[in-house]
Amino acid sequence: GEESRIRAISEAIRVVPHFPKQGIMFQDITTLLLDPKAFKDTVDIFVDRYRDMNISVVAGVEARGFIFGSSIALGIGAKFVPLCKPGKLPGEVISEKYVLEYGTDCLEMHVGAVEPCERVIIIDDLVATGGTLSAAIRLLERAGAEVVECACVIGLSDLKVGCKFNGKPLYILLEPR
Ligand code: PRP
Repeated sequence: GEESRIRAISEAIRVVPHFPKQGIMFQDITTLLLDPKAFKDTVDIFVDRYRDMNISVVAGVEARGFIFGSSIALGIGAKFVPLCKPGKLPGEVISEKYVLEYGTDCLEMHVGAVEPCERVIIIDDLVATGGTLSAAIRLLERAGAEVVECACVIGLSDLKVGCKFNGKPLYILLEPR
């Protein structure tokens, strides 16, 4: 059933203590990608959730949001729009800065990738502070899109299911181990 699928997905994610620095328990989704059944189950859970919601755009956050987001986009027949770190996109972009523990970072999106009023879901591998997803929401809304939901494979329990995040629903598949 659904619970055993989710347990297998959770167990396929490797936890690496003290990476990339002391005190961080890194959630390594590359081991999930090595398990075709668990990877497909992960994508299918999101595809089942979003297939009948009239979503025309899946926006994925660089880098690991590209892996899940593009697979989900193919599964629901939507277009995929990458939200990139600065300087990666060759066309005209809009950008949104966000705050990190030390300093700031930025996400960029191609102008014209999304039409006003398109219904969008935003996908990433993991939500921690939510700063990245907040910047992603602002980007899509500046383009006039309707952000229907943000979704991540891994998120902390205090952000969990049903909670509104920057005014948008946030769906989290798993808690970190
Ligand atoms: C990680 C993760 C999310 C973000 C979540 O990416 O993949 O995108 O952090 O953190 P937040 O909720 O506190 O904003 P990272 O910034 O490490 O970039 P990368 O994907 O390029 O490694």
